[in-house]
Amino acid sequence: MSKAAPDPQSNMGKPEPRLDGRLKVTGEARYGSDFAVSNPAYAFLVTSPIAKGRIESMDLRAAKAVPGVLEIFNYENTGELKDIKYAKGGGGPTSSIQGFGPLIQYGGQIVAMVVADTFEAAREAAHMVRVNYTSEPPSATFDSRGVSESAANEGLPQAGDAEQAYVAADVRLEAQYETPTQHHNSIELFTTTCVWHDNQLTIYEPSQFVYGLKANAAKKMGVDIADVRAISPFVGGAFGSKAQFSPRTGLVALAAKRLNRPVKLVTTRDQGFTIQTYRAETRHRIRIGAERDGKITSFIHEGWEVTSRPDPYSVSGVEDSARLYGFGTVKTGVTLVHADRNTPGFMRSPPVVPYIYALESAVDELAAKLDMDPVQLRRINDSSVDAMGKQWSSRSLMKCYDQAAERFGWANRSAQPGSMRDGDWLIGWGCASAVYPTHVGAAAVRIRLVANGTANVQIAAHDLGTGAYTVIGQMAAESLGIPLASVTVELGDSELPPAPVAGGSNTTASACSAVMKACEAIRAKLMRSPADDTTVGSAAGADRNKLNLEDRFKTLGVGAIEEYAEYLPPGAKPDSMKNLYAGTPFLGGGSKGEKLMYATGAEFVEVRVHASTREIRVPRVVGAFAAGRLMNTRTARSQYMGAMIWGISSALHEAAEIDPRTARYVNDNLADYLIPVNADIRDIDVILVPEEDPLVNPVGVKGIGELGNVGTAAAVANAVYHATGVRVRKLPIRLEKLLTT
Ligand code: MOS
Repeated sequence: MSKAAPDPQSNMGKPEPRLDGRLKVTGEARYGSDFAVSNPAYAFLVTSPIAKGRIESMDLRAAKAVPGVLEIFNYENTGELKDIKYAKGGGGPTSSIQGFGPLIQYGGQIVAMVVADTFEAAREAAHMVRVNYTSEPPSATFDSRGVSESAANEGLPQAGDAEQAYVAADVRLEAQYETPTQHHNSIELFTTTCVWHDNQLTIYEPSQFVYGLKANAAKKMGVDIADVRAISPFVGGAFGSKAQFSPRTGLVALAAKRLNRPVKLVTTRDQGFTIQTYRAETRHRIRIGAERDGKITSFIHEGWEVTSRPDPYSVSGVEDSARLYGFGTVKTGVTLVHADRNTPGFMRSPPVVPYIYALESAVDELAAKLDMDPVQLRRINDSSVDAMGKQWSSRSLMKCYDQAAERFGWANRSAQPGSMRDGDWLIGWGCASAVYPTHVGAAAVRIRLVANGTANVQIAAHDLGTGAYTVIGQMAAESLGIPLASVTVELGDSELPPAPVAGGSNTTASACSAVMKACEAIRAKLMRSPADDTTVGSAAGADRNKLNLEDRFKTLGVGAIEEYAEYLPPGAKPDSMKNLYAGTPFLGGGSKGEKLMYATGAEFVEVRVHASTREIRVPRVVGAFAAGRLMNTRTARSQYMGAMIWGISSALHEAAEIDPRTARYVNDNLADYLIPVNADIRDIDVILVPEEDPLVNPVGVKGIGELGNVGTAAAVANAVYHATGVRVRKLPIRLEKLLTT
C-alpha cells in the first residue's frame, strides 16, 4: 500500500497518527469498567431462558445465602424505576423494552441482578436464582406461527407507475434476497459502573451518546438531569450497539443508590446478545424492468424486517436503494414482522447494508440477463437526479468505479461464469456500489487558546476507535494555525458541550463544523486590529504562519481566549440545541434536505472457490470511496479497511442463528458466531477518491465510518456467481450453499 502523500491540490487531510494511540497501546486509556471507584460492589445479571410468558414466582433463598451477597434486584423491588419512552414513541434513544418482569417479551430479557461484595459471589448467586415461569410458544422470526405484520414508515419513495412500467419493460428481473440476524460483538463488553455522591450520579459506561445516556438515566431514576453525569472517553467497539439506553443502567444506578456504594456490572458475551440491540434479519423482493440497452425504467423494492412485538423499529433502506440510480419509476414499501424478540437497533450502516446488498445483487443479475458488463450497466443508470426529482449535492460514483476497476484489472475479466480458473480454483470477479447518507447534526464546543500557543478542545463527541480525537484536533490546529501537537482534545463526558449521538457517521462533520466556528471566533478576537482586517475571521485565505500569537495576546492584554460555539445544520429547529442538551440529537442530511447528500464507493472483489470442496476464499478486495473532504487519510483508510473486512464477514461468515422453537440465539459466543480471522483476510486495497462538496456542511466532510461495508457483501456474492454460476441470494454464503450438484 502506498503511503498517502497529501496532495496540496486536494482536500485530503494529513495522515497524522492518532492522538490517543500511545494511551491505547500502553493500556493507559480508561474504558468504562477501568475507572477505579472506591470499594465497589459487583453485579451479575440473570436473564430469561424463555422468550414469551410470565414470571409466576421467584425463589431467592439459595442465592441470598451465598456469602457476600448484598441484594437481589428484580421487578418486585425496583418500582422506583420509571418507564421511559422509546424513540419512536417520542422519547430518546433507548432499548424499547425496559421491564424486568413479570411480563417476558423476549429470550434473554433481564429478570434480576445480584449484587455482592465480589464478582464471583454475584455470579454464583445469579446461577442460584430460581424463577418459575409460565411460558407460551414464542414466534421467533419470519414464517413463525403467531407473528403479526404492520406497515413501516409512511412516505417512502415512489415515482410514476412502476408496476405498469415493469410490465411494459423489454427485460424483467424478479428476485428475492435475505440477510441474517447479526450481533455487534464489540470486543469491549457492555458494562456499567454507577457512583453516587450527595445525590449526584456518575455513570461510567461505554457510550455512543453520553448526553442521551445521562438524560435517560435521569428519567429512569426520576432525578434532575443536572444531577447525572455520564463518562465515556474511550469505547472498545460499538457499531451502533452502545448508542441506545439500556435497562441495565437503571438497575445499576438504583443498586448503587440503595446500597450507598459504587456498583460495577460487566456483562457476559452471551448476555450481550440479548440485553442490547442487534441487526434484525431482512427479506427483499426486487423487480426491475429495463430497456434492451440497460436503461432501468422500473424499480420496485419491497422489504420485510423483523422487530419486537411492541415497537416499530425499522431501517427502511428503500430510502437509499431507490436513489442510488436514475430509475425511470420507483415503487417501494417496507413491512414489519413483529415477533417475540428484543427490539432491534442500529448496526453499522443500518439501512443500506441489507437493502443495498439486495439492490446490488439484483443489478448484477440484470447485467447477466442483458449480457452486459455490470460496470457499464451502472454507468448507463448513473444520474445526479433521482426518480423523485431531487438533485445530488455531489456524486462521484462512476469516478470510484473507474479508479477501482483500473486498479483491480477489471478489463481482463472474462464475462462467462466459470470461465476463469487457476488449477483447482474457480476464480470469480464481482463488484458492487456502496452508498451512505451524509448526516450532520447540531453540536457545541468550547475551545481555549492560550498565549503559549496551546489549545484545548472540549466537546462531548465520542471516539469509538474511529479517530475522532485526532480529526477534531486536526480541525482545531488547522483553524487556529498551530501544530497538532499543541492541541489537546477532551471527549466523551456529559460535562462538556454536547455533540450528537456517534451514529450515522456524523461525528466528524458535526463536531468539526462546530470546532471551525469556535476557532473562527477566536481568530476574530485575536486579529482585532485594523492591520489584520484582511484575515479577520477567515480560515480560508488567511496566512496562518503570520499569526504571531504571543504578540497578539500581549497587544490584547489577555493570557487566553475561550470561545463556546454552537453549530446548527440546515433543517435544524430553533430548539434543536436545547433538545440536544436534553438528550435528543438533531441529525439532518441524507435524503431529508433540499439536495441528496450521500457518500459513494465502488468495491471489487476476487473470490476463489475450490472446484471440488467449494471452499471460498477472498484473496483481494479493492474499494474506491468518495466522501467529500477527508480530515485524515490514515484514519480514513483504517475505517474503510475495517469496514470491508466486516463486509467479507457479512458475505461469508456472520449470522446469529435463532432456534425457531425457543426464539433463542444458539451461537451466542465468539466461538460459534463466525467472523473472519487473519487467515481469511488477504489484500484489502483502499483508494481515496478526491471529492469536494461545499454544500454538505461548512467543513465539506461526508463521513466515512459506515460507507465501506455497504457494497462488500453484494460484490462477494456477485463474484461467487461469476466463479461458479450459482447465485446465492441468502447471506451468509457458506460452502454448503454451493454444493448444488
Ligand atoms: Mo451507527 S450503526 O449509525 O451507531
